[in-house]
Amino acid sequence: MRDALGEVQSVVVLGGGSDIGRALCVRLAGGRCDTVVLAGRPEDGMDEVESAVRAAGASDVQQVHWESTAPDTHQQVVDEIFDRVGDVDLVYVPAGILGSQEAFDADPAFAAKAVEINFAGLVSSCLAVANRMRAQGHGTIVVMSSVAGVRTRKDNFVYGSTKAGLDAFAQGLGDSLVGTGVQVMVVRPGFVHTKMTEGMDAAPFSTTADQVADVIVGGLASGREVVYAPPLLKYPFAVFRNLPRMVWRKVAERG
Ligand SMILES: NC(=O)c1ccc[n+]([C@@H]2O[C@H](COP(=O)([O-])OP(=O)(O)OC[C@H]3O[C@@H](n4cnc5c(N)ncnc54)[C@H](OP(=O)(O)O)[C@@H]3O)[C@@H](O)[C@H]2O)c1
Repeated sequence: MRDALGEVQSVVVLGGGSDIGRALCVRLAGGRCDTVVLAGRPEDGMDEVESAVRAAGASDVQQVHWESTAPDTHQQVVDEIFDRVGDVDLVYVPAGILGSQEAFDADPAFAAKAVEINFAGLVSSCLAVANRMRAQGHGTIVVMSSVAGVRTRKDNFVYGSTKAGLDAFAQGLGDSLVGTGVQVMVVRPGFVHTKMTEGMDAAPFSTTADQVADVIVGGLASGREVVYAPPLLKYPFAVFRNLPRMVWRKVAERG
């Protein structure tokens, strides 16, 4: 249960090796968060995240095997985590791959895999989490969408469409949980400097994992349902999402 000031005391990360996840957990561990469960693939860099989170002050840090493409396991994995932790304040969901549109075009099966990782596997996982949070009567699920899903572009529309689907799912899940004590927050970052974007040219208004973590912590404190990172991106994307397609194509071509 969050403390009297609303600070998170326990967090589960689905995608435990994520750079943004690490920044968020370090930030939370520097506050009142003592329990951190990193759920991901064994090769996922979770040892480094665990060290950083322990150094930041969390004493109860566990690693759990969770694979986005194994939906049959999701309720069981989530049940085991909740049974072990007892009370989970926050489930943060950063798992995902970016991929390139060229790679998806060349290998349609890879595109389907991205849909599985970024969307289908997170749907089953979040529904499993919602079942447990509904039963405990409180908690927040934070889902990583992207501005790429607000208006898809031709140069990354497979990735963008996985995020659009996930974003719509998360909003619907949040609506379905009203009155249960459980909230869902959708995070829509622009370009973030992490291992996911390593070697890529930064887009305008690029940001860092620490800055995204600050936006998430601020959103949790104020009970926001949707946040952009950086926050000012909400203004251009409010316009972009409503542009006629002919105009959007020209805007998107300019980058
Ligand atoms: N970085 C950006 O510019 C940006 C912008 C907008 C939105 N986002 C979104 O924010 C989230 C976090 O991004 P990030 O920058 O922190 O990326 P990241 O460091 O690459 O983290 C993504 C995590 O997802 C995990 N993952 C991938 N496939 C998986 C699978 N099949 N099962 C379980 N875990 C899997 C990765 O583990 P492995 O190492 O094992 O692959 C990795 O730990 C992502 O959803 C991303 O799409 C990022």
